[in-house]
Amino acid sequence: MRTEVSFAPISGIATELLAVLAADTQTAKGPEAKPQPTLLTTDAAVSAAAAEVLGTGEYKAGANETVLIHAPAGLAARRLLLVGLGKLAKATEHGMREAAGTAVRFAKPRGIRELTLTLPENSSERLPHAVVARAAAEGAMVGDFDADTYRTERKDQSIQKLIFATADADRPAIEAAVREGVIVGESQNFARSLVNEPGNKLTPTILGQRAALMAQEVGLGWDVYSTEKLHELKMGAFWSVSQGSPEPPALIVLRFEPEGVHDGPVLGLVGKGITFDTGGISIKPADNMEKMKYDMAGGAAMMGAMRAIALLKPRVRVIAIVCAAENMPSGTAQKPGDVQTAMPLAPDKPGKTIEIINTDAEGRLVLADGITYARQLGATHLIDAATLTGAVSVALGRAIGGVFSNDDATYAKFAAALAVSGERFWRLPLGEEYAELIKSDIGDIKNTGGRYGGASIAAEFLHTFAEDTPWIHLDIAGVAWVEESRPYVAKGPSGIAVRSILEWVRSY
Ligand code: BES
Ligand code: MN
Ligand code: ZN
Repeated sequence: MRTEVSFAPISGIATELLAVLAADTQTAKGPEAKPQPTLLTTDAAVSAAAAEVLGTGEYKAGANETVLIHAPAGLAARRLLLVGLGKLAKATEHGMREAAGTAVRFAKPRGIRELTLTLPENSSERLPHAVVARAAAEGAMVGDFDADTYRTERKDQSIQKLIFATADADRPAIEAAVREGVIVGESQNFARSLVNEPGNKLTPTILGQRAALMAQEVGLGWDVYSTEKLHELKMGAFWSVSQGSPEPPALIVLRFEPEGVHDGPVLGLVGKGITFDTGGISIKPADNMEKMKYDMAGGAAMMGAMRAIALLKPRVRVIAIVCAAENMPSGTAQKPGDVQTAMPLAPDKPGKTIEIINTDAEGRLVLADGITYARQLGATHLIDAATLTGAVSVALGRAIGGVFSNDDATYAKFAAALAVSGERFWRLPLGEEYAELIKSDIGDIKNTGGRYGGASIAAEFLHTFAEDTPWIHLDIAGVAWVEESRPYVAKGPSGIAVRSILEWVRSY
């Protein structure tokens, strides 16, 4: 998709589809208070073209509600699309993200390849134009994605050209905001495209190749290691997951080292990259097992975030580790009862021993070594993302992810990042009560601790390896895959966490 910014009056823009935002300006409450759909433009010709439909009361400007007007009189556009933002008083930049996605997803299946999206004229301190422009660009990019690469007859093709029309006089600010939004949206889509790949098309080795390719494109430092390096680093936990598959593991390292930044924090991003999770010897039931191709969504999120970081260049050093493996049952697979030794933090220290209770609790195993490696490489602050537990979706459902942290100041930064990203996460507890449940009679720790509080138990397992390093853990098992299409986003891989991780990094 090519994007442009136009500062011309919108009624004069010759375009296949002119999308204009509308909001409900009714402030009174009660049964008498009818919705008051109001266009967020002062263009008289657009107002005239929309007057008829706005007068009928059939269109209420609800969130993502659309109405199409063909051959609008007095406009150079072929079609006029009104896109609702809902109540104006409650409008947010995230609402703008969705509205932009809605406009794009309206156009796609109708064979419309080019459209113009009008940014709202009303600006406020709460919603400055540049913030809204960035959100619109993100939403449009995210809306343009469909997980249809394996359809021989693709139903809807991508938008080729998208024009953002604005009345704002500050050209450079709006252009920079749109550019930024495009980078963020594209990076999220990059993660989604990886998550969409099935296990046979995206092995750990291929994920490593994709990481290297991306790193070269955007100028990140990178290394992709495999079996030998795992043995050299004594990554016994990571290797134990990989050992059951003929596909070798990939230990992916991406580095962002901005010029002239030699001190301050080093942020460590650690992603779970299980390219397929059968459960191993503790094999999963057949129902829905195909979904376990998305068990590398945490790793993909880190790769997407690193792509955006490389292009947006914050003044902070960042290192990402993705632990990629396939969790398979076989004659060489690990067994329940096996004891594994995790990577030691320093060569002279012993690694912690882990009693394997359930080979399906493999994510925490690969992450344990990923976290230790990030700390060994000098990470001062950690964030990990993983499709770690079914339990997190029991607790929070399919729209909100779980976040855990051992440090309130670091968590506060993440909470602030959420306000910018528009993504939804809810903090869940860590605690000695959970740590108690994973004490092992045989080794230092066991990899499962019973049914109740499963997301917190898994998080507490990781905490054992993060120790005192300020750390955020994101459990995205419930939110990495969207089951139902929405007006503004396709069903399939969500690309969740890319935006929040990016904003968290930028806050340093
Ligand atoms: N990859 C799964 C978690 C998962 C479940 C992701 C559903 C996405 C959707 C993880 O490796 C796993 O199997 N977790 C187990 C842990 C249990 C054995 C303690 C689970 O949640 O059942
Ligand atoms: Mn599993
Ligand atoms: Zn898994």
